[in-house]
Amino acid sequence: MQDNSYIYLDHAATTSVHPEVVEAMNPFFSEYYGNPSGLYSMAQESRRSVDQSRKIISNFLGCRPSEIIFTSGGTESDNLAIKGSVNVNNSSGRHVLTTSIEHHAVLNSCLQLEEIGFDVEYLTPDSDGLIDPHEIYNRIRKETVLVSIMLVNNEIGTVQPISRITEMIKQKSTELGIKIPFHTDAVQAIEFEEINVNTLGVDLLSLSGHKFGGPKGVGVLYIRRGVPLNSLQSGGGQERERRSGTENVPGIVGLSKAISILDIRKEANKRYCRNLRDRLIDGISKRIPGTYLNGHPTIRVDNNVNFCFEGIEGEPLLVGLDFNGIFASSGSACSSGSLEASHVLTSIGRPVELAKSSLRLTLGYTNTSDEIDYVLDKLVELVSKLRSMPIL
Ligand SMILES: Cc1ncc(COP(=O)(O)O)c(C=O)c1O
Repeated sequence: MQDNSYIYLDHAATTSVHPEVVEAMNPFFSEYYGNPSGLYSMAQESRRSVDQSRKIISNFLGCRPSEIIFTSGGTESDNLAIKGSVNVNNSSGRHVLTTSIEHHAVLNSCLQLEEIGFDVEYLTPDSDGLIDPHEIYNRIRKETVLVSIMLVNNEIGTVQPISRITEMIKQKSTELGIKIPFHTDAVQAIEFEEINVNTLGVDLLSLSGHKFGGPKGVGVLYIRRGVPLNSLQSGGGQERERRSGTENVPGIVGLSKAISILDIRKEANKRYCRNLRDRLIDGISKRIPGTYLNGHPTIRVDNNVNFCFEGIEGEPLLVGLDFNGIFASSGSACSSGSLEASHVLTSIGRPVELAKSSLRLTLGYTNTSDEIDYVLDKLVELVSKLRSMPIL
């Protein structure tokens, strides 16, 4: 539960579970705890709830229930999409196209493919973090077996032109007479962007429950009908043989409840967070000299603010904010705490030293404009203090 003793500005890392989600999940821990594969009535209640959840989610995505499988989160969905959709035994087609600014769940999956002989090309974005759809058209070849491009970047919030990229892939694959599955990591997009799979035109799409008021440890992979996918786990053949393992029933119910809540409040949330975001961006740009906004100024997700502050390091800034009850991040959740410059910031051309001074503030609907004003005051104070400190 959120109290007034801190200001949480790390919603891209994770979110608190919505109270209605907790309520929806609760019975599935101790009342209807049956294994959905069982034949008795309690187990069938679990099965019904999993099926019902699948329907809710597929409605939201605009697909069939059978096109959705449940996973343990965004990382697993990305791994399965990438390693499961390329045919490792096909030596004639081993070219994969992705970007240098993907989440490590995608990048490290691609690295693994490289280790077994795949040729992975990493497109670099422009200085705002945008990938040029024409570049994708130009790089696709007869050997291309997968394209994976994220919808919203988790660090800088830039939104990629996915529908346009789909058009380019379709055009080029028709010319070459091949079929290329297109995967998008939509983990950071679900709360604010259009993620109807037909509007986007993607074949595979990853989601994670804990980024939008759902529980941790549960995710979704959408797989368009007809797109081949090899399972990465051997076991009991759940999820139509594509993801073995007893279903995480409370998690699945919680994720679908979070989607139902999101469906109702999405538009209002977007407007609300965008307002706070712009107030924060404006305040930092005007009140603190030597700052650089990372990511596209307008084609960015409604809750993301990411700046570099000349002359300081991100870590002491984070510590100072924490000391003042403000929780933020220096990059992606996984890389915060490490001293390395973010791969996303160096990819958009930030020099290493400047990249190390980054701060990511990600908003949620529980944040208020008073909180933003307080954060701005503290930032002005802390940046000035850190800049005046002697360099050791
Ligand atoms: C863009 C993106 N993809 C994938 C993931 C991984 O998701 P999960 O934490 O559910 O494994 C994250 C989490 O930070 C993310 O931001």
